[in-house]
Amino acid sequence: MLLAEVDTPALLIDLDAFETNLRLMQESIADFAGQLRPHAKTHKCPTIALAQIAHGAVGVCCQKVSEAEALVDGGVGDVLISNQVVGAKKVARVAAVAQRARLSICVDDPAQVTALEEAMARAGNATLDVLVEIDVGAKRCGVAPGEPAVRLAKLIGEKQHLRFAGLQAYHGSAQHRRSVEERRAAIASAAELAGQTRDLLHAAGIDCPKVTGGGTGTFLFEAGSDVYNELQAGSYVFMDADYAANEWADSGQPPFQHSLFVWTTVMSRTPGVRAVVDAGLKSSSVDSGLPKLADETPAAYVNVSDEHGVIALNGAPDYPLGHKLKLIPGHCDPTVNMHDHFICIRNDRVEAIWPITGRGCAW
Ligand SMILES: Cc1ncc(COP(=O)(O)O)c(C=O)c1O
Repeated sequence: MLLAEVDTPALLIDLDAFETNLRLMQESIADFAGQLRPHAKTHKCPTIALAQIAHGAVGVCCQKVSEAEALVDGGVGDVLISNQVVGAKKVARVAAVAQRARLSICVDDPAQVTALEEAMARAGNATLDVLVEIDVGAKRCGVAPGEPAVRLAKLIGEKQHLRFAGLQAYHGSAQHRRSVEERRAAIASAAELAGQTRDLLHAAGIDCPKVTGGGTGTFLFEAGSDVYNELQAGSYVFMDADYAANEWADSGQPPFQHSLFVWTTVMSRTPGVRAVVDAGLKSSSVDSGLPKLADETPAAYVNVSDEHGVIALNGAPDYPLGHKLKLIPGHCDPTVNMHDHFICIRNDRVEAIWPITGRGCAW
């Protein structure tokens, strides 16, 4: 099928750009002694996870039990739930996945450790790798670095079905700080806190095999820190509009390309003023800004409602009714969560359709 025949709204992957991003990521960390574990919360798609693993990733991360189940169902053998999971039903599902794949998970509270141990004991003979999440500046999840992390690691070590696997030290709020220097400084501080905590663990006789973290905005800084030995960047495969708004000069970041687009049709127009397209809030997430038009043009997507996007022409020629165009979403992750499939294109033809089996609101 030609791209022009694909009905809208639809979510597209430009395969040339996507494959370029996979390659650029591996090249950019060629000297890194640790491993890449890309975040699958970006795409929620086992086909993409397997492509990342084929390019050298050790496995993937995800945030939710439902994503872990979808990834393992799709053939991914090594998954880190880089998040806390709370509630008996969900913890039982974690323990069930751990019986059939290499699974690891994060905690930041003794009650989570107890719940995981009990569920693992009920589920079978497997052992679950558990990381202690420390708050290195994002002020989201995580215990304070230092002694609180050591106490939690000791508790994990006492459990029969759990193994202390290291520290999660992800600095989420650093990723979109616009200047390179702000991001570099945030990760220098995060690495110091993570390094001190790792040293305290060692002093207490506790091995700390892993320090994991990093996103698309900062992964080269974690890679160069001598503290982190695993990187979790996710959005680099798609490179949304919000990430493109970061400053990158002198960061060493490779030129990741936009590979994810919302395909949309002009459904109404006011000649000389605006065009209205059929991709609104139900097709593209706007939490990190409105979508951008992929084509070079003075026209701009300026307003959104449930099923409509308003494009101000700003002097650009009128779009004919029925004209289809590509939008670059502001934020890739929640945009993907609204769609059932990626329509994968090359040279304006559909080459593949990849189901987004980990999507949805369910945990
Ligand atoms: C724990 C964790 N690690 C890694 C990432 C990946 O970050 P990005 O998609 O910005 O590369 C995220 C994103 O939210 C995250 O929450």
